[in-house]
Amino acid sequence: MADWNADFGPFDGHTWLNCAHQGPLPKRAVEAVDDAVTLKRAPHRLPERAFREVPAGVKRALGALINASPDEIILGNSFSYGLHLLIHGLEWNDGDEVILVEGDFPATMLPWQLLESQGVQLRFVDAERSTPLTQQLAETATPRTRAFCTTWVDSFTGRRLDIDEIGTVCHEHDVLFVLNGSQGVGARPIDVSRTPVDVLISCGYKWLCGPYGTGFTWLTPEVLDLLGPVNAYWLPMQAGTTLDEMQNLSLDTELGASGYDIFGTANFNNFMPWTAAIEYLTEIGIERISTHGERLVGRLIEGAESSSFDVVTPEDPQRHANIVVLSHSSESVARETHRALADAGIHTALREGNIRVSPHVYNTHAEIDGLVERLPE
Ligand SMILES: Cc1ncc(COP(=O)(O)O)c(C=O)c1O
Repeated sequence: MADWNADFGPFDGHTWLNCAHQGPLPKRAVEAVDDAVTLKRAPHRLPERAFREVPAGVKRALGALINASPDEIILGNSFSYGLHLLIHGLEWNDGDEVILVEGDFPATMLPWQLLESQGVQLRFVDAERSTPLTQQLAETATPRTRAFCTTWVDSFTGRRLDIDEIGTVCHEHDVLFVLNGSQGVGARPIDVSRTPVDVLISCGYKWLCGPYGTGFTWLTPEVLDLLGPVNAYWLPMQAGTTLDEMQNLSLDTELGASGYDIFGTANFNNFMPWTAAIEYLTEIGIERISTHGERLVGRLIEGAESSSFDVVTPEDPQRHANIVVLSHSSESVARETHRALADAGIHTALREGNIRVSPHVYNTHAEIDGLVERLPE
């Protein structure tokens, strides 16, 4: 087994099993932080071209990761940035409908509520019902349905949705498929050229191991065409000229995806290390990372079954990614176990009274065993 653990940390004897909250920077990304600081400590080192090259580099790395053209990628600082710009950029009419999933993560749900004042109706399907989600979608969609938005991997249960079949149903009903990939991209492969998704939005600081304050949106050229201008950021308007010729006051609303990039698009401190982290993951290969994650998750689920905890997460590898949620009939036992694990230097999350364990490429089988040993019988 390759030891990717050595490419991270040092973790000072701690075990980080909470990537669903924050992914650690690989060592290579830490070096890139140092490089960014070096540029800013003595700005004569900061070349003007870096303002273009740094964002171009992140877009290239993200494009390679999801098999998209860098021109189709919008840089952000979070998942929320991308979803807000999509919602504000599309034109809505009274009576339009959007379908969401009952109980989805607040970041996926809340921004849509802004549209209710424009007469947009929110309708819901329920991924926990025995009726397949695709059937519910087909039954809920009407000619007024514009979009279906869901989280790929659910933070509260670890459930991973089948985005191929969901996207197919969306397209049969002429509904845009907007996917929150924040808990999946980087842990499981996604090829947007072959997946029927129209918009993929993700934060960058979990499974993509970037700094906090990173994120991206990928969208199809067709969706990009539907987006009205929401920004008039001066820097991309100067494209093709140098900073000594910046008195350009003509508003260019045809900048493609880059017209929607977060302001401060060159954000050296964040985007230099994030690029290094994405390139590191891509070099290993997301397929290999996924296989490694699946082994860790399989070991954890099997081990947890002999404890007094119940595994909330679906056991089928096609229906989960790298998040395993454990519940206990006594919430106080769950809380105590979470605390005891933390005292032993094993970091998990407590979410809605359950323990959430989320290993990634740097975790080892021994670390999973160390956690399982501490689960009460
Ligand atoms: C499913 C999901 N989406 C989004 C986020 C984060 O959103 P943002 O990057 O906008 O803070 C999280 C964070 O826990 C999450 O679990």
